[in-house]
Amino acid sequence: MISRRITPLAGILVGSSLLLVQPALASPPALSPSAVSPPVSQAEKKPVAEGSGGAVSTVDLDASKAALGVLREGGNAMDAAVAAAATLGVTEPYSAGLAGGGFIVYYDARRKKVHTIDGREAAPKAMGPASLEGIPFDDAVTSGLSAGVPGSVAQWELALRRFGTLSLRQALKPAIDVATKGFRVDQTFYDQTAANAARFKDFTSTAKLYLPGGAPPPVGSTFRNPELADTYRRLGRLGGEWLYGGALGVEVVATVKKPPVTPGSTRNVRPGLMELADLKAYRALERPPTKMTYKGMDVYGMAPPSSGGSTVGEALNILEALPKVGEHEYLEASRLAFADRGKYVGDIPGVPLKELLSDGFAKERACLIGERAMPHPAAPGDPDGMYGPCPAAPSAEATEAAKEGPETTHLVVADRWGNVVAYNITIESTGGNGIVVPGRGFLLNNELTDFTFGPAPGDPNLPGPGKRPRSSMAPTIVLDDDRPLLALGSPGGSTIITTVLQILLNRWNLGMSLPEALAAPRATQRNTAQTQAEQAFIDRYGAELTRRGHSLVLNPEIGAATAVEFLRHGRLQAVAEPTRRGGGSALVVSERR
Ligand code: DON
Repeated sequence: MISRRITPLAGILVGSSLLLVQPALASPPALSPSAVSPPVSQAEKKPVAEGSGGAVSTVDLDASKAALGVLREGGNAMDAAVAAAATLGVTEPYSAGLAGGGFIVYYDARRKKVHTIDGREAAPKAMGPASLEGIPFDDAVTSGLSAGVPGSVAQWELALRRFGTLSLRQALKPAIDVATKGFRVDQTFYDQTAANAARFKDFTSTAKLYLPGGAPPPVGSTFRNPELADTYRRLGRLGGEWLYGGALGVEVVATVKKPPVTPGSTRNVRPGLMELADLKAYRALERPPTKMTYKGMDVYGMAPPSSGGSTVGEALNILEALPKVGEHEYLEASRLAFADRGKYVGDIPGVPLKELLSDGFAKERACLIGERAMPHPAAPGDPDGMYGPCPAAPSAEATEAAKEGPETTHLVVADRWGNVVAYNITIESTGGNGIVVPGRGFLLNNELTDFTFGPAPGDPNLPGPGKRPRSSMAPTIVLDDDRPLLALGSPGGSTIITTVLQILLNRWNLGMSLPEALAAPRATQRNTAQTQAEQAFIDRYGAELTRRGHSLVLNPEIGAATAVEFLRHGRLQAVAEPTRRGGGSALVVSERR
């Protein structure tokens, strides 16, 4: 079900509306009960909203409403983003949660500066390069071993402290309300629960929460999670310390080391290596963003341990070096950028980021792109700062990529002051490692399966003590002349990178509006023998691309993007998926024209 091939060596494969200034950080607005969204009708869910005063796009109406409520009460974009993320932990618990991790790219309007916050999960100190060797991928997914030290809570606290106005307690309020009153089970929630039922039933805590009466809660029913509401309440009161070294941390470690396997289950559930000291040692980190310039616009992304910023940026640079950009060129540029990501990017010192994002390197790579698809697999280039004539194309080891579904989630929030958040949050697989911490109402992540399992000498993404697994998450903010133009991102594992890239090209090279750019059919080439593509992409471009040497294979649905575009005169266009993953929810503070 959750099978996926791991990238082998060198990844050769693969409020008040009259306020015009930002309130003092020291005086958080109190959230009135009206800021808390009541249970909502899915009929209100729409993929495009245009207006002013702030905008939100998430995959889920309750989460978008939580963020909108915070914005209407005078909170800023970071406050609203944390509120939305915590709410997604309730309504999209198989994609996001307090025991997961993520990356935030943030535009601070007052200082005209882009910041990022790395809340990626970390490997425990006891994990070494061989810790995952020989373990079947599916076994690792559903295990204590795959649970990374959670990053989301530390990230929320750092994000609010640095850029927000609310306390964690205030930011968690909308989520607590949704968890208490409940949300309507939609088809997506039902399908995801059903797809996980076989492993959820193998854990007493998970079966109790998500398989009430032994089956997934039916579509249309109201799902409440009082234990998660209680966990959030205590977290608000006690702060992150409760997790990072405190009593909640003790419970997490106990669950990781001795998962609550249902008596009689035959599943081989490997225990994890996490200790309380690993939780105490965890820090969310501010890191410089990646930056590159495309068609005169500054594209900011996430630096390692994510490969999102460098890979999107390198592919854009390669495309800029070509005389024309169409579907073929998009696929080829992506192929090359993935070859480089596999060899050079991981949570290691010395990732050659500057060179990977340099025009010289991009030119050298671009000259490998011809009329026909290049032989598979593309070998990594040499980002050594010395770029000359077109090098001979070296060969590389062939590998294969798996289909990646739209697990994980992405949200965008913009506020009336012009601050912008692009935020990817994840627990990795749909349902994370499948293990709910008993009595606490949340699932653990299986993010450590993002490491290369090995053996793979020299691979930058082998596990290591305290190391963060390489990610593909690519929250992206584009500025024009220091002003925000576009913010976007998506779930989808390594297809995140191609989805972000394709939306940017649709918008800027193919002349689509932002709603069109998100709705357009997708394809994803990650240095794989075959290019996965949605049916409509195959129907439209398949014949021509096949003639040019590409081999297309169906992937029914790629990504679940969310985005906001900054129009003229302070207007905002929030955009979500019209249909993928059941469609997303775009909202603006004021729809007045
Ligand atoms: O960090 C990453 O790239 C992944 N763990 C994100 C998870 C995801 O999108 C799952 N998708 N297939």
